[in-house]
Parts: sequence; structure tokens; C-alpha cells
Amino acid sequence: GDVGAGEQVFSANCAACHAGGQNVIMPEKTLQKDALDQYLAGGRKEASVIMQVTNGKNAMPAFGGRLSDEDIANVASYVLDQADGDKW
Ligand code: HEM
Repeated sequence: GDVGAGEQVFSANCAACHAGGQNVIMPEKTLQKDALDQYLAGGRKEASVIMQVTNGKNAMPAFGGRLSDEDIANVASYVLDQADGDKW
């Protein structure tokens, strides 16, 4: 996916709960490398982020139907780029 386009999707749809890669609802479940390794279903990879964003999980809403598949793929690329590079 397109990391730059994904950053825009993130700002508009995710930052309310995940500003700076944090998590205001479940503080340990950040978007940082270690947390994705520990908590993300399927492990720290784009397909896993796409799955969680599409379907939601517990208090995180589902974005399937609200965002296009392309937007979801792009935001997953952005999240992984940030996490893998320790950019947040
Ligand atoms: C967890 C991404 C929007 C609330 C996560 C995780 C990812 C993620 C990758 C797993 C983190 C981990 O387990 O350490 C995104 C993206 C979003 C988005 C890309 C936008 C498209 C939101 C919004 C909210 C939210 C708007 C709040 C209303 C949560 C919560 C969890 C979570 C509560 C923990 C879920 C659980 O395991 O119980 N998010 N998120 N997220 N997110 Fe989001």
C-alpha cells in the first residue's frame, strides 16, 4: 500500500484513539512494534492489520464498509512502516 496516503487515512479515522501510535482506550495495546508482536491477532504484518481494521475488535470499531479496501491497505502499510521503523 501507499504509506503517504495511509497517513491521511490514519489522521482522519484512527488518530482519535491512536494518536502517536498510542491507544487511549487500552493503553497497553499500542501500535508499536512490541505491542503488535504481543497482541495483534496473526502477528505483526499488514494482513493482520487489514483484518483488524476491517472487522474491528472489542472496543475498536470495524471499518469495513466505511473505508475502501484500498484505504484500509494503505493505512495498514502506514501503521507497519511506523512500527517497523520505530517511528512512534
Ligand atoms: C487496537 C489499528 C481505529 C480502538 C488496534 C490495533 C491496531 C489498530 C493495529 C492492534 C494493536 C495491539 O493489539 O497492540 C487501528 C487503525 C485504525 C483504528 C489503523 C483506523 C483505521 C481505532 C479507533 C478506536 C480504536 C477509532 C477507538 C474508537 C482500539 C482498541 C484496540 C485497538 C480499543 C484494542 C482492541 C483489543 O484488542 O481489545 N487498532 N485502529 N481503534 N484499537 Fe484501533
